[in-house]
Amino acid sequence: MSTESCPVDHADRPTDPVSGCPVSVGAAAFDPFGDAYQADPPEAVRWSRDEEPVFYSPSLGYWVVTRYDDVKAVFRDNITFSPSIALEKITPVSDEAIATLERYDYAMNRTLVNEDEPEHMPRRRVLMDPFTPDRLSHHEPMVRRLTREYVDRFVDAGKADLVDEMLWEVPLTVALHFLGVPEEDMATLRKYSIAHTVNTWGRPSPEEQLTVAENVGKFWQYAGTVLDKLRRDPSGDGWMPYSIRKQREFPDVITDSYLHSMMMAGIVAAHETTANAAANALKLLLENRTVWEELCADPGLIPNAVEECLRHSGSVAAWRRLVTSDTTVGGVPIPAGAKLLIVNSSANRDERHFEDPDSVDIRRDNATEHLTFGYGSHQCMGKNLARMELQVFLEELTRRLPHLDLVPGQRFTYVPNTSFRGPEHLWVQWDPAANPERTDPALLHTRHPVRIGEPTTRGLSRTLTVERAEPAARDVVEITLAAPAGTPLPSWSPGAHIELQLGDDVSRQYSLCGDPEDRSRYRIAVLRDPDSRGGSRYVHDELRPGTSVAVRGPRNHFRLDAATRHHVFVAGGIGITPILAMADAVRAAGGSYELHYCGRSADTMALLDRVRRDHGPRLHEHVSDAGTRLDVTTLLAEPADGTRIYACGPQRLLSALDAASAHWPEDALSVEHFTTAGRELDPAVEHAFDVSLADSGLTVRVAPDQTVLAALRAANIDVPSDCEEGLCGTCEAPVLDGEVDHRDVVLTRAERSAGTRMMTCCSRACGASLTLGL
Ligand code: HEM
Ligand code: FES
Repeated sequence: MSTESCPVDHADRPTDPVSGCPVSVGAAAFDPFGDAYQADPPEAVRWSRDEEPVFYSPSLGYWVVTRYDDVKAVFRDNITFSPSIALEKITPVSDEAIATLERYDYAMNRTLVNEDEPEHMPRRRVLMDPFTPDRLSHHEPMVRRLTREYVDRFVDAGKADLVDEMLWEVPLTVALHFLGVPEEDMATLRKYSIAHTVNTWGRPSPEEQLTVAENVGKFWQYAGTVLDKLRRDPSGDGWMPYSIRKQREFPDVITDSYLHSMMMAGIVAAHETTANAAANALKLLLENRTVWEELCADPGLIPNAVEECLRHSGSVAAWRRLVTSDTTVGGVPIPAGAKLLIVNSSANRDERHFEDPDSVDIRRDNATEHLTFGYGSHQCMGKNLARMELQVFLEELTRRLPHLDLVPGQRFTYVPNTSFRGPEHLWVQWDPAANPERTDPALLHTRHPVRIGEPTTRGLSRTLTVERAEPAARDVVEITLAAPAGTPLPSWSPGAHIELQLGDDVSRQYSLCGDPEDRSRYRIAVLRDPDSRGGSRYVHDELRPGTSVAVRGPRNHFRLDAATRHHVFVAGGIGITPILAMADAVRAAGGSYELHYCGRSADTMALLDRVRRDHGPRLHEHVSDAGTRLDVTTLLAEPADGTRIYACGPQRLLSALDAASAHWPEDALSVEHFTTAGRELDPAVEHAFDVSLADSGLTVRVAPDQTVLAALRAANIDVPSDCEEGLCGTCEAPVLDGEVDHRDVVLTRAERSAGTRMMTCCSRACGASLTLGL
């Protein structure tokens, strides 16, 4: 290996005996066209994530970036890290191939994905509207119709190559519809697209280069012909006619060169990415049979499953940027002019960001934070169209062919390249005699609503069975819920709650009070509320051993602070449930605590025997009937450093504690909230404001009757959410400028006054604008 071409500073680094260069053995051996990377890109660079997250690859001539935070930081800064090389040929082209391309006047140039500022953002803004969730919704019937037609063709066959028989052509047809391009010979377009992929991200041999150049040249010509046709009559539907019309208004922004290049790149961007993503998703789900079966049983899980598949096995494995000024990535100095291969598929498997990243968890609450669509000002404009297609594919296949299996023993092949990734064939088999639609034709007409835009984690329930329902005090029932055999339940920490779906329209949250180590069951205790509108009444009257219940969570908005030296636990009535779990944990860890349990009379105090047994010496019982009522003023008279009060109970008790702790250090009192007051926005009282997005280069107007979260989603910005009531912290965004009107119960007083974070589902601007780090 020549050290002359290597930009690593050789002066103070020993030469590696293998590579002949101060790069490490792993870096020297890195080959993105080799078998290991082609088989599994994130696995092939696992060593890098662990040992050397930013390294120089002498064979590629690129710096390679593999950890989540570093990849995202590169995506975020499109000035220091220019996207101009995103579509450059990664393998130098032979003179003959260049001559072939010239014969076709090939002049692929800047589109959006490889355009620098200041040209890029004005173009993106002008062309964005057809991609917003509102505008995308009318494509759904077309996507569904096409999907059904293709499934109809093979549903009775018992065996199919899903790629050849559906997953390639449906996205291509959708792409052509979306772009407003007449449907053409699909096989030819497929050949052209693959040639474009190999030409851009592959390592073709000199002979292959000629065939590739021939097809790429023809693709370019085809794009020009279609463009000319559309120019003659640009009145039709679709993004390309829309762009041609916009050119009349903004000729400097939408140039001729842009339109021709986008015509060709657009077909690839909209089609191959999605076809590959769909094939990857189906392969992954069928390889993880229990997950597939869960999806078949509960299609409500599909939107988040799509995100999890994009995270785990996305169709864009790596992307590229050019360094425009001397900088550092992950602490490693990188000189101006260096090229970066940012391995977003590796970032998506970084355990520093995703828990247990190699597993497939369709309920993962941060799955949408994957970087498969890139991030920031160039983030994929078509992501919501792709998400819609993937949801429809999964929905139709899980419903019509739940008994689908991968044909065993098949070897998966991939078009060798650094970036676009999906199996070339995906053979599946099933018994057509067992097709559910043969016995239940009504099934053909069912459809589950597609979520356009990003899924929330709210709908992600799992079905548990009531194992026991036992009295735990007067009017209190203790319910034990068990997981289906063999599937461990998600872990939880003291203070967490679950949400039970009780009948059609009612759901209620209950704190967990069992043993967090027991992953096979959850325990809750529920007080019968005489004014119940269905929640506690349903639990008491309907839940019996063997009943199934849909359960969401666990979630925790009420956590123990590890820095607490002494814990004062205060429970009022049924509020004992989270407090007991917390006290159990502190006791088990040998921590210091006292437990105050208040109730009207001993027979109404839930789980009292257990509380007495486990916490006797630390327990203070405050029983009104016995005249031992808690005096909160006396209890909290003396503030103590390092002491925190954790309370759950009736609002009267919590307000009294709040007042009595006013002279305590800020945030000494933590209370459990299940609801917040005032969810409805009153447009007569609220004002409109602007939110500027530093990473995305957009300014979004928030109407008086709209949340920041809703306004961001309407502008295609992904922000995960869960409670959408200011309780859980999922929708948090960094605040860079402007004063926030905080309306959540997540942030502490100190965090609110720091003004660097906000909950976008409920909090607003005090003034006319805010700047967020999104
Ligand atoms: C950009 C991935 C589907 C249109 C991108 C980028 C990636 C990507 C990685 C570059 C992001 C960056 O530099 O930060 C994907 C994946 C898809 C998909 C994985 C499917 C699963 C689509 C579809 C369309 C589309 C269906 C069009 C209908 C675009 C456009 C850009 C882009 C126009 C350029 C945006 C800009 O630079 O401002 N996509 N894409 N993509 N994608 Fe997609
Ligand atoms: Fe829960 Fe906003 S989504 S705080």
